[in-house]
Amino acid sequence: MKLALLFASLAPVLLAAKCSSKVVTVTEVVRITCAADGKSCGPPGPATSSSSTAVVQHSTTSSFSIAPPPQQATNKQSLSTNAAVPQPPVNTSPINPKPSTSGNSGGPPAPTYNPLPEPAIFSSETPSIFNVLEGQSGMAVIINSCDYDLSLNSVGCGTGVQGQLIPAGETYTEPIRDCTNAGVALHATSKNHTKPVIVEYGAGPQDALKLTRPLSYDLSFLDCMVKETANLTGCAGWKEGHQCSGGVGSTVWSCLPEQYCDRTSYTVPEYGQTPENKDWRIKVAAPVASTDFTNGVVWELCAANRVN
Ligand SMILES: *[C@@H]1O[C@H](CO)[C@@H](O)[C@H](O)[C@H]1NC(C)=O
Ligand SMILES: *[C@@H]1O[C@H](CO)[C@@H](O)[C@H](O)[C@H]1NC(C)=O
Repeated sequence: MKLALLFASLAPVLLAAKCSSKVVTVTEVVRITCAADGKSCGPPGPATSSSSTAVVQHSTTSSFSIAPPPQQATNKQSLSTNAAVPQPPVNTSPINPKPSTSGNSGGPPAPTYNPLPEPAIFSSETPSIFNVLEGQSGMAVIINSCDYDLSLNSVGCGTGVQGQLIPAGETYTEPIRDCTNAGVALHATSKNHTKPVIVEYGAGPQDALKLTRPLSYDLSFLDCMVKETANLTGCAGWKEGHQCSGGVGSTVWSCLPEQYCDRTSYTVPEYGQTPENKDWRIKVAAPVASTDFTNGVVWELCAANRVN
């Protein structure tokens, strides 16, 4: 399995043109694919991840280096909109030839699988039925608000926990596994949900000047859902809702109880990008957010159960 990383940068890098005093702005989109062993990252190419996409969007001169995180990344408050990820215009018809029908217009239509979801919805708002997640610096936090036990496997980036029990109502915390340019996938299963729901994260290199590091994260139902349907019943915690965040002020990937949340999580491999359509599809924002490494990542399963 391959893992995915995304780092996004707000600020275009201003580069002095080599032969004059002109300043040019260069923006490029680079795909980095990393093997699950965390040791190898490859050049651009069609990703075949069973999980999610590996898109790195940043501004830099070098093809495969990760841009420094946005200046605002040092300040949790200013991350609230996560403006780092480019939002393509919604009315650009080639980008969304098949709009999702899982919206809320005119009652509750049955959600349908959409192979080309619209741009991901970046929001730092916690749904009112969930509690606000607070991250811990440099830590991955998994809150089991389900009334059943979970089992956690950590895949990628060296040796992680395997079969770690997270009893109902308890929280498991571990240091962010730290492999530059390699992702980590936290897989959660339960007795009745044997295929994993996954949170993926990846830390980029530290910016030498700003002493910050980008940390990207996403929520993926690809492994536990019935493929190419809107049926996520096989995913632990889905019935009672999920949320995943990089701490207060960061983007919250929330999935309300029994919601087909195809714009805040991965339910379509590569977010619909294929080798054939990648020229335009790569412009569609995928549901991967970025925060600063120090904020950590926190993920709650059965989030609607939690009462404080
Ligand atoms: C698993 O599913 C069975 C059958 O639906 C149910 O009786 C049982 O309570 C479930 N177990 C848990 C831990 O939810
Ligand atoms: C959804 O998928 C599960 C298997 O994960 C299956 O048992 C169930 O019947 C499916 N539900 C619908 C509505 O298709």
